Order: sequence, then structure tokens, then C-alpha cells
Amino acid sequence: MALFPTYLRHEIHFVDGSGAVLVDELGNEYLDFASGIGVVNLGHRHPRIEQALITQAQGIWHTSNLFASPLQQEVAEILCKVSGMGATFFANSGAEANEAAIKFARRWAKTVKIIQEPEIITFKQSFHGRTLATLTATGQDKVKDGFSPLPKGFRILPYGDIQAVKQATGSTTAAVLLELVQGEGGVRPADPPFVQELAAWCKEKNLLLMIDEVQTGMGRTGNWFAYQAYGIQPDVITLAKGLGNGFPVGAMLAKAEWKDVLGPGTHGTTFGGGRLAMAVARAVLEELSRPSMMAEIQEKGTWLGQLLEKELNGLSEVRVIRGKGLMRGIELNMPAAPVVKSLLNQGLVTLVAGENVLRLLPPLVVTHGQIVRAVSLIKEAVQACGLPTSV
Ligand SMILES: Cc1ncc(COP(=O)(O)O)c(C=O)c1O
Repeated sequence: MALFPTYLRHEIHFVDGSGAVLVDELGNEYLDFASGIGVVNLGHRHPRIEQALITQAQGIWHTSNLFASPLQQEVAEILCKVSGMGATFFANSGAEANEAAIKFARRWAKTVKIIQEPEIITFKQSFHGRTLATLTATGQDKVKDGFSPLPKGFRILPYGDIQAVKQATGSTTAAVLLELVQGEGGVRPADPPFVQELAAWCKEKNLLLMIDEVQTGMGRTGNWFAYQAYGIQPDVITLAKGLGNGFPVGAMLAKAEWKDVLGPGTHGTTFGGGRLAMAVARAVLEELSRPSMMAEIQEKGTWLGQLLEKELNGLSEVRVIRGKGLMRGIELNMPAAPVVKSLLNQGLVTLVAGENVLRLLPPLVVTHGQIVRAVSLIKEAVQACGLPTSV
């Protein structure tokens, strides 16, 4: 009632939480292995982040981007420092961050490469958002259904196919946009040789290499950003989700040398980089900067991966287990939605990716005990859902 039925919602109403635990209105506890959809990376009600928002909320909230913002400047500087980038544009969501990247790439192509109708290469099964440009960039037909006419200027190629990229590169090609672990598309990590060859190709042909880190960034895969494990330096990255731990914020970062591509008046947003979002983002960044943070995430991520392999590999219902860090997917030979439902009944929150991939995105602060419990529940649920139903 009163809402568009755009989301198929579970009936559960969560009212509280702490770390990787959620509590519903009846007082039932759930282990959260979804984090929203990879958003609440530092856990529910993180004291430092909660306090940062409360403190900022007691001051002024908004003055627009027409006035100085030392706080926005500070957050941008931290992001540039940890990413090796030189210029930041703040938005409010992942789609908006990618929209900014697409606009940046087009303007870059027009001003630097003098291409009038620039084209951006993206990949099948990718997901880049729900605005018209980002859904066009997305390599899944289901998000485009009913929304034509779509913007021009995108070329979608098979994921991981470097020859296809080489063949498709022409005089109008400006940029390549990709996820290094496709999230919505089924938790599919890109092969390192493909990524390295792609980076070399972009360099050789003067194409922008743009990495969508909306889901993989902010520690999710065990590094600040997924690209750092591939030994490449992109020209552009996009962020959102974990940057605000639940407070809406997105960012597009580019190399310092391209700063002037988005000069005064070329792009903008009313709310992007607002004080509340920046106060939260700064607290998130400070927390992720703790010296042992990335090592802890890597250790837990590797352990989760190994435990899933040990307990689930070989089950007749399981096809393959994929992922990196605390971003894992279990491809089943049956639909994943009933498994998610069954797990909810057992007190574990998980996600579906594609049709038949069970996706796990626990908060990065998940404990070893919580991982053991989750894997054991998953094993039981997968086996129970795989049993032939009696007629
Ligand atoms: C890789 C990736 N890019 C972009 C988006 C879009 O982000 P948002 O929903 O904040 O617009 C998502 C959301 O799931 C995503 O996973």
C-alpha cells in the first residue's frame, strides 16, 4: 500500500542491531551476512560512526556546494591518499557515482582525445546502477526491460575476454568500465591475467580504465579497493555503499592530471558531499585506517572462503564457490531464493545474486564464531532445499 511494488520484500521488520547482529520487532536475533547489500560494512550501530553522525546532526546540516567545506576537502584528501587518485566528486549513491564517471569519460574523450561520439566498453553480467545511463552500461537485460530509448555510447562485451576488447576498440572508444568482482552478476572475480592485459591495453590505446568499486571497495575484498590486489592503477574509480556504512554517499575519483575535465559548472548535485554524509564517511575512513584493519579482513575473508570450500564443496547442490575477502558466492544447481528464505527462518540473513547464487556480504567486523555458525546454517539449508520434494 502507498508504495510502488518495486521490491520483493521479506516480512521481517528489523528494529535494532549491533555489529553483525540484527534484531526484529519480536526480539528475534539474526546473523547479518548481507550488510544491507554490502553497505553496513563496519556493522550496525558502530559507536564511533553513530557518534560522528550525532555530533554533526547537532550543527548545521546543509549549505550547498556553493560554500567552502573543509570537511568535504578532508574526506576527499583521505580518499585520494588511500586510492592514489587526485580528484574527487561526491555524489549520493553508486549509480550517481557511475553516472559521474560516464560523464567524466565523455568529457575527457571530447577534450583530450577529440572524439565527438565517445563509446564506453562494459561487460556482460555487470551491474552499474539504475539511472538511464548506468542501466545501459549494465550487462543485464532485465534492468533495461521497458526503459527504451536508452542512451547511446555503450558497448557490452563478454567478461574476461581480452580479445573481444581488442577487437571492439576503435577510433571512438574512450573508456572501459568494469567491476573486479561482479556482485549482482553472481560474485564473479575477474581473472588477474585479463585485468592486467586490459590495463596494459588501456594504456597502449589511451583509454580510461574505470573500476566500479561500489560494492568491492572500502575493504570488502580485503584491500581498500579490489584493484589493489591486481597490481593495477585505474584512471577512475567509483565508490558508494560502505563509504557511508548506511548513510547515503557516493564518490567518483580520477587521477590528478584529469582534474580540469570537470571544471566549474560542468557537473553538480545538491546533496552530494553534504555535511552529514561527510562526517560519517570520515569516521568510516578513520576506522578502516586502523593499522590492523585490512589484515583482519583478509584473514577472516580467507578463512570464510576456506570454510565454505571445506563444508560445501562436493555437496550435490553446490556447483562452485567464488569470491574474494568477505564477498563470497555459492553457485547452486537450484534457485537460491528458497535457500535465502530457509536461512532467514534459521536466523541468518543472506542475499541472492543472479538466479542461483547465494551471496554472502557479512560486515567486515564479523567474528570467527559468527562465520562458523553461518557456514553451518548454510550447509544445512542448502542440503534441505536440495532434497526432492515429495508429491
Ligand atoms: C557494482 C555496483 N555498482 C553500482 C551500484 C549501484 O549503486 P546504488 O544502488 O547505490 O545506486 C551497485 C549496487 O548494487 C553495485 O553493486
